Amino acid sequence: MTAAPRPLEARASGALRGRLRVPGDKSISHRALILGGLAVGRTRIEGLLEGEDVLRTAAAMRAFGADVERGTDGVWIVDGVGLGGLAEPEDVLELGNSGTSARLLLGVAAAHPVTTFMTGDASLRRRPMGRAAEPLQRMGARIVARQGGRLPLAVTGAASPVPLEYALPVPSAQVKSAVLLAGLNAPGATTVIEPAPTRDHTERMLRHFGGVVDVSDGPEGRRVTVSGQPELRSADLVVPGDPSSAAFPIVAALLVSGSELLIEGVGVNPLRAGLFETLREMGAAIELRNRRLEGGEPVADIAVAASPLVGVDVPAQRAPSMIDEYPILAVAAACARGRTVMHGLAELRVKESDRLSAIAEGLRRCGAEVSVEGDTLVVEGKGRPPKGGTRIETQLDHRIAMSFLVLGLVAEAPVSIDDAAPIETSFPGFAELMRGLGAELR
Ligand code: S3P
Repeated sequence: MTAAPRPLEARASGALRGRLRVPGDKSISHRALILGGLAVGRTRIEGLLEGEDVLRTAAAMRAFGADVERGTDGVWIVDGVGLGGLAEPEDVLELGNSGTSARLLLGVAAAHPVTTFMTGDASLRRRPMGRAAEPLQRMGARIVARQGGRLPLAVTGAASPVPLEYALPVPSAQVKSAVLLAGLNAPGATTVIEPAPTRDHTERMLRHFGGVVDVSDGPEGRRVTVSGQPELRSADLVVPGDPSSAAFPIVAALLVSGSELLIEGVGVNPLRAGLFETLREMGAAIELRNRRLEGGEPVADIAVAASPLVGVDVPAQRAPSMIDEYPILAVAAACARGRTVMHGLAELRVKESDRLSAIAEGLRRCGAEVSVEGDTLVVEGKGRPPKGGTRIETQLDHRIAMSFLVLGLVAEAPVSIDDAAPIETSFPGFAELMRGLGAELR
């Protein structure tokens, strides 16, 4: 039985102020559980995101035989089975809304001689898995999926996986990671060539666990090579705040006049920082303070103050470094003065929803002028927020949900969403946190 939808409404709010932390990085949290489960020994993870997506990965790693527990102090403990040591899950892995769980765990399962069944919610069952399955089949896995490479699927992993050199047809960190994770169990070197560099959390964390990863830039793109069959040793981790979650209070503070926020301990990996660069070009007062390295990842405190924004051109090359941030950027663009053109957004069509359509339709319903030309999104900013006064269907998409709630904080009339439940996948406590800063959400 599915739970009843939970509508939520956002109204014009007074200045947002305060100091806050956002939940742990989703991408890093998945990887911490997976690599902790593949390493030998005990890994302690501080700041793990306890969102539904990550809890799906935790449950899956348990089904594969790792011990994964949350301590009473909030620190997660993973006792790994060691590379090659995964057990066969007794039941279907239910991965909910989580594309990262599906693709990364497919890579893990593809290189272990066990048979694994996977499924997910209506959103995940629509998303393409063939992009990950295809290279993994070349490494020796047998994968049977529904038409279009969709879930549910079954994978029988290769007993002796073959190392692979693979040029990614789409810039996807999930596909890259699936191949690299499978390559860990293959003898010799497995290489992924990326047309454009995507988030490198898998590479950084592999090194943290004692793996050998070589990265070089060549004429075909970035070559990322893992050496197979390393000794992965358990390693403690601190997960930084998720910049993709920080994006919502940041844009809210930029738009609501008089706002001032300090968000502590946010991940600022350059391959995730495209939104900050873009907002600065739009005139945003955003300052990165106290930059440091934690567990191999760059972290900073982010100070932000309400700012008048102008429209800009966002080049396609920047898309991988802010791929999850276009919904909230489009909201900022709708309140800016002038035209914002966002290029190279084809991948948005295969996210938790078809985000290109969801953004365009939602903004139009709020009274903004928007067009989609191929994979380019154009938003005509009028220098003031759109009128709002509508209800948005979030289509099981957490980022669509949060983006339109942020718009409701500045629109003339309230904006509501049909269901706030999907927000739990990545940002548990979003509404309470925003209310604590002064946002009118009910
Ligand atoms: C992610 C990669 C991106 C991103 C997703 C998380 C990851 O997906 O949209 O939210 O953790 O590797 P793609 O690899 O499909 O671009």
